[in-house]
Parts: sequence; structure tokens; C-alpha cells
Amino acid sequence: MTKKEFIHRVPKAELHLHIEGTFEPELMFAIAHRNNIQLEYASVDELKQAYQFANLQEFLDIYYAGAGVLLYEQDFYDLTRAYFDRIHAQGVVHAEIFFDPQTHTDRGVAFETVLKGITRAMDDVREQYGLSSGLILSILRHLSEESALRTLDEALPFKQYFIGVGLDSSELGHPPVKFKRVFERARAEGLKTLAHAGEEGPPAYVWEAIDLLGVDRLDHGNRSMEDDRLVAELIRRKIALTLCPLSNLKLQVVSDLRQHPLKRMMERGMLVTVNSDDPAYFGGYLNENYEAIAEALELSIDEIGQLAVNSFEASFLSAAEKASWTGKIEAMLQ
Ligand code: HPA
Ligand code: ZN
Repeated sequence: MTKKEFIHRVPKAELHLHIEGTFEPELMFAIAHRNNIQLEYASVDELKQAYQFANLQEFLDIYYAGAGVLLYEQDFYDLTRAYFDRIHAQGVVHAEIFFDPQTHTDRGVAFETVLKGITRAMDDVREQYGLSSGLILSILRHLSEESALRTLDEALPFKQYFIGVGLDSSELGHPPVKFKRVFERARAEGLKTLAHAGEEGPPAYVWEAIDLLGVDRLDHGNRSMEDDRLVAELIRRKIALTLCPLSNLKLQVVSDLRQHPLKRMMERGMLVTVNSDDPAYFGGYLNENYEAIAEALELSIDEIGQLAVNSFEASFLSAAEKASWTGKIEAMLQ
């Protein structure tokens, strides 16, 4: 079996995925048209031309503008359903998905509208494909603590529909400590917690995420490698990192995938996973991320298999579900 065939066939979980980042230009234009909204770009091609980013903020500006055409429950359903159809074809069997409620509620779209559209798609694919998924409410860190607390209040009546609370958006200047009380509330409610940290921000932000927010899993975390004591602590506490190779390349977190820290992290004994982040903007879904990083770092089939095992180990699935999937992967590696 070639590496490419193995990547396609092996069962995988995706753990770092923003549903708003799966908005393909064709669907964006179709929804804009039916909602009578004029996009800033004249055509799909013109929009795609704009997908050149010098940093995280340049991407976020375009990503939030695109999400602005989502108004109705059916829009959120169509967006989510399109993502699931793609990953089902890629051998992904489980996905833990971020959504950014403030991006929508700040435009007057009801929290419930967003949630109903996304969860209806989640229910449908569980039934039709046996594809399991969980939802993670992600707080926009460029907005205030007050806005985050209000969002959490609004979300709690629907708590059964999501598994955790995350933290995303513009990292520099918005350290995790800003949301210490929000995360205390989330944990008191029994929710899992996650934070983006160390994508552009320094190792100090990763320390805050693990010590002050008490995160169960860390998103990106690339810059942890600058601090040996932090690396040791992530290993000791078994905190997994959700890495996103094509995202890192597109947002110039790394200048070349051959410089990506994934393999060095594996060699140090860190629990790392491969994910797509915002696939409609970064040039690839989950398998394209596996293929690109396997090629750049010359990963073996065993190492690729280990990454697939890690994707379940680092998930919020039950111990029995983890054992079932990792057993299947190990059988493929025999
Ligand atoms: N980083 C921070 N916020 C985000 C990202 C990201 O990569 N994608 C969507 N929101
Ligand atoms: Zn992300």
C-alpha cells in the first residue's frame, strides 16, 4: 500500500476544525445569492485570488466577512453538511468541530438558529454514515470578557449540544488570562476546555492556557518548542496538541513545511495530531494535510498510523470508542 492509499484508508478523527472555515467559495456565492447579499468580490475566482495571507489577522478579516452571508438555519445546515460529505469521503469517522457564535449573534442571528442548523447536520450524518461528532463553542478573544460571559450564558440552556469551550481569533495582544473567569465557569459546568495558543503568540500564552485556563487540549501550540520546560510539562500532563500544517504554511507560521515542528514533537514524545483548521481557505481538507506533512517530513507509514492513533487518543471519545478505533488502525499496521 502506498502512503497516499494508507492515509485515505486509515480511520481518522479531526480535532481542530472551524466550521466557518469550511465555507467553500461556490457555496458562499450560492448562499449570498439566495439571501440577497452582495459579496465584496465579483466572482468565485476573484474571491479565491484574495486568499493570500501574510499573517493570522489578514486571514481572519476575510473569514469573518465570508461568514457574514450565513443567516438562516438552512445556511448553517448546508455549510456543515458539505463539510461532513467531504470528510466522509476521506475516511474521517469522528470530528470535534469549533463554531464561533459571536460571529453570528453580533450580526443579529439567533444563537439557536446557528446551533440548530449545525446540530441537524451532525444528527443526519451520524445516522447516514455512522460519522460521530461533537461541537465546541469557541470564544472570540479579540472581543471582551463581558461578551464572552454573555455568550456562555446564552449557550448554557443548550449545553447538551456541545462538549467544550474553546478560544480562537486574533492571538497577539489577547492572552488567555483575559478569559480566566469564562473558563472557570465552563469547567464548573462540566465542559471540556481548549484554547488556541502558541500559533503566533509566545510560549507564555501556552503556559497561561494550561495553568490559568486548565485546558484539556491545546490548539496549535507550535511555539511551545521554544521552551523546554513547557514541552516537558505538556508531556507530563498528557496535553495533546492539534497541529494544522497547511494552515501554518498559508498563515506564514512556518515558511516551508520541511521546517514544521510536527516530527520533532513526535520524537520528543508529545501527543500531536494533524488537522485542517480552515480547509476552504488553506488549500486542503484532512487527507491533504496528512499528505503534505508526510511528504515534507518524510514520515513512514508507521508514523502516519501513529498520528491516526493519536487523533483518537486526543479526542473526547469514551475509552471504549478510542480502543475500538485504535485497534483497527493497529491491525492495518501489522
Ligand atoms: N487561529 C485563530 N483563530 C482562528 C483560526 C486560527 O487558525 N481559524 C479560525 N479562527
Ligand atoms: Zn484554529
